[in-house]
Amino acid sequence: MRSPPTQPLDAAQVRAANGTLHVESRASLRPFNTFGLPALAQTLVHVKSEADVRRVVDHPTFGRASKFILGGGSNVVLTRDVAALVLKVEIMGRRLVEERADAWIVEAGAGENWHEFVAWTIEQGWPGLENLALIPGTVGAAPVQNIGAYGVELRDRFESLDAVDLVTGRSVALDAAACRFGYRDSAFKQHLAGKSVITRVRIRLPRPWRPVLGYLELERKVAETGMADPDARTIFDWVCAIRRAKLPDPARIGNAGSFFKNPVVSAEQCRDIIGRDPEIVHYPLPDGTVKLAAGWLIDACGWKGKTVGGAGVYEKQALVLVNRGGAHGSEVVTLARAIQESVYGRFGIRLEPEPVIV
Ligand code: EPU
Repeated sequence: MRSPPTQPLDAAQVRAANGTLHVESRASLRPFNTFGLPALAQTLVHVKSEADVRRVVDHPTFGRASKFILGGGSNVVLTRDVAALVLKVEIMGRRLVEERADAWIVEAGAGENWHEFVAWTIEQGWPGLENLALIPGTVGAAPVQNIGAYGVELRDRFESLDAVDLVTGRSVALDAAACRFGYRDSAFKQHLAGKSVITRVRIRLPRPWRPVLGYLELERKVAETGMADPDARTIFDWVCAIRRAKLPDPARIGNAGSFFKNPVVSAEQCRDIIGRDPEIVHYPLPDGTVKLAAGWLIDACGWKGKTVGGAGVYEKQALVLVNRGGAHGSEVVTLARAIQESVYGRFGIRLEPEPVIV
């Protein structure tokens, strides 16, 4: 059954059964997506609390409309105006929930900026998120795609989250099993997509803290500096420096991080490719399959620095597509398709986009 379209609204404050909602009509989404792509939301609701989510659910029109949940806009490619009701999650707050012998449990509102939250935990003396520094987006978006970098994924530090069901308005707490985390994947990209709003996330930071230094670029930092025993603050600084050197800052150059997932192939398929391209960057996985570096595959097809209209492939990392200025979402998608075709043509591998294409 299709949901009825949302009626445009003029009023900034919409009366709901149990309070008021901050609503905008024909709102520009350009400032709210890290690619900086132009698109309008017919109706946008600023969700500042769990109660706001329930107000939306109980609202006679909003309750029935199809919904689009927007966090920091770091994992979305907008190719057109959004007719669904846009819920912009702006729930704030961060706190230490519990200090246990084996862990610190910290919580943040879904609207908090992820990197600022990571920096705050380190400043407070609660280490464990340093490898995940400088990832663009919000705390609420982190579990949706199970963010990961430099040997740590969100699921390795996840305790639980609160979400509000968009049909019943009920709050639920979900543990890691219920979130069904996978590589850049979770229930929120699958059966719960668009169905529940993450409002708060709790992180478990194990005690005693142990550094995660196995990633090649961090091993290099250890060798370069001679610091065999770096503290969390040092690793945080290293990760920031590594990312700044090869990933574009979305505040200056619009992008959504890695555009494609690293593909996983069978050992047989990998052997076949190595036979033809001995240089291919690959990582054997415990289950016998092999992960390939999508950035390497794209680079090998000669895409670095190439453009389609305002969209381009970042010069320092072929896995990242960027807005060179004034790009339209359709240009990003055209570029992405051309990359997929050329990688398929040469290697027989289908690259899967990481961001959601709207
Ligand atoms: N490579 C190339 N050419 C390129 C890009 C990469 O040859 O243009 C090679 C590199 O030399 C390296 C290999 O490919 O040998 C892998 O590159 P890198 O270590 O930069 O990592 P990645 O696989 O490209 C992944 C994540 C990143 C994360 C880094 C560090 C995915 C899709 N991407 O990138 O995540 O920061 O590892 O852990 O898993 C993100 O998801 O937005 C993101 C940035």
